[in-house]
Amino acid sequence: MKSRITTDFHSHILPGADHGSDSVETSLEQLSIISSHGIKRVVATPHFYPMSDSVESFLERRAECAHNLHAAMREGDPEVLLGAEVLICNGIERMEGLRRLTVLGTNCILLEMPMTTWSDTTYETVRAIADMGLDVVMAHIDRYDPRSIEQLMTLDVSAQLNPDPFFSRRGKKFAARWLEEGKVVAVGSDLHMANERAYRDFVGACSSLDGYAEYVQNSMDSLLDGAHILKSK
Ligand SMILES: [Fe+2]
Repeated sequence: MKSRITTDFHSHILPGADHGSDSVETSLEQLSIISSHGIKRVVATPHFYPMSDSVESFLERRAECAHNLHAAMREGDPEVLLGAEVLICNGIERMEGLRRLTVLGTNCILLEMPMTTWSDTTYETVRAIADMGLDVVMAHIDRYDPRSIEQLMTLDVSAQLNPDPFFSRRGKKFAARWLEEGKVVAVGSDLHMANERAYRDFVGACSSLDGYAEYVQNSMDSLLDGAHILKSK
């Protein structure tokens, strides 16, 4: 079945914003790969690490990187939206400007759970952010311990999947569970550098969504409604 996914919700494609792209040339190569696979819209989600960055300096850097990319974008490139992949640290809900890390022009924020063991405070932090009225999407839930995800998904949050789970029997079972429950509202390549093979995996994973593709695409459209868009001039 042909995938109906035309949006990539999670990527590292802004030149110099993080380790995802080291130059405008690399970012343009990434955009070429993305468009060659029929993806029309990509959310740039550079890492935001609260322990070493401030919202203000992150947004300034992102704006500059976005400006540099936008100036070089060509006809046929996908639309680029500006977001962040915000690492959860205890107490981050009290950080000034957290709301400004939503995808620009939307109410949607992409949160990344830490790779360490999660404490009650970790879950409470996510709950507090969801209670702020934001549309919280948890990045690549396939990366973590399924029992911890079970607990996380009891909160008022949704989930994004990376391609990885679609390439193992265990991963497929995990993905099917959260797709069936309607918790998966987004898919993303998590593209770093011009990795064509990784992008093929993403598109292959999108094809495996079968009957869920429409729901996931519609969910992404709805979350990204009103987003600020960078287009080729
Ligand atoms: Fe990422």
